[in-house]
Amino acid sequence: MKEVIIGGVGKYTPSRKVTNEQLSNMVDTNDEWIRSRTGIQSRYVSSGEDTSNMAARASLDAIKDANISIQDIDLIVVATCTPDMFTPSTACLVQGIIGAENAVAFDIGAACSGFIYGLNVAKSLMITNNYKNAIVVGAENLSKSIDWKDRSTCVLFGDGAGAVVLSISDTKGIGHSFCKSDGTKWDAITIEGNDLDSPFVKDKIIRNSKLKMKGNEVFKFATSTIVKSINKILEDNNLNIEDIDYIIPHQANTRIIDYAAKKLKLPIDKFYINIHEYGNTSAASIPIAISEMHEKKLLKKGNKIILVGFGAGLTYGATLINWAI
Ligand code: UT7
Repeated sequence: MKEVIIGGVGKYTPSRKVTNEQLSNMVDTNDEWIRSRTGIQSRYVSSGEDTSNMAARASLDAIKDANISIQDIDLIVVATCTPDMFTPSTACLVQGIIGAENAVAFDIGAACSGFIYGLNVAKSLMITNNYKNAIVVGAENLSKSIDWKDRSTCVLFGDGAGAVVLSISDTKGIGHSFCKSDGTKWDAITIEGNDLDSPFVKDKIIRNSKLKMKGNEVFKFATSTIVKSINKILEDNNLNIEDIDYIIPHQANTRIIDYAAKKLKLPIDKFYINIHEYGNTSAASIPIAISEMHEKKLLKKGNKIILVGFGAGLTYGATLINWAI
């Protein structure tokens, strides 16, 4: 039985760091509110880099870490809800920038759960199509989709990208995954597209291209699905929570992570948390966290890690990773 391991990781964040203090000069907010309600102290914001540039830089970083050639990449999957364009896909733009001419490239739209969905899809394709190496990227330029006058959302999000190289191996790698969605709650978080308007449309639909979120509703969904997803992964992989070395959750709010730790009776340091520095970077948050942990040498070969995400759609999911490098 073939295994798929994470063979390299990388990340990229814009150089501009924006503090809570700076935002309090733009909207009616303050550092105390943002810190105590979310855990966020700063976020990186693009000064012009778009999603594809950030994704490409994170990919090159991961390819270097995996010590493989760009020509060895068979598949590029980019998870994003802030693509540069409707078409072509951000993954095709990344392919062009890095010159991965042997790859097939496409995007996944599952918002903050996109990286988990992407890992799942890439692993399945690698096994069925005999691909040897893939890149899965989570990349977001949320700052272009934020209403900078809306204090209830503009303080929450940040820009950046994280990437992993997946490789076929004999070593144990990505375990059972779990992905789920609930499309009846589609309007809990939205970034809408073009207006529905043409000479043939009688009742136009005017759409709002700025991010809108029903924060309280999403908070309730997030606290219940984070615990449910972790438990499902333990069950499907025949593991106990004590077998897990780290949980890397989507970074949306430290209060969501605190809730999960309490419910699962786990010390908070089992969860990797970096939201204070990055804010919520949607699909990028989990691969940025993995990359940061790898840089800090926190991950040891043989470690068991659960990745868990939740977000617009509504979508959620989790994956077991046996750390192999
Ligand atoms: O990544 C995708 C998944 N996303 C999530 O998981 C996000 C889930 N939701 C959340 O994390 C939280 O619901 C938020 C951080 C978005 C909001 O926190 P909250 O504790 O639920 O606050 P709230 O929306 O209930 O607002 C409480 C008060 C309100 O004032 P009143 O009505 O009580 O007078 C808001 O107007 O806080 C006010 N408020 C602010 N005050 C200062 C909202 N935003 C701000 C702000 N600064 N930036």
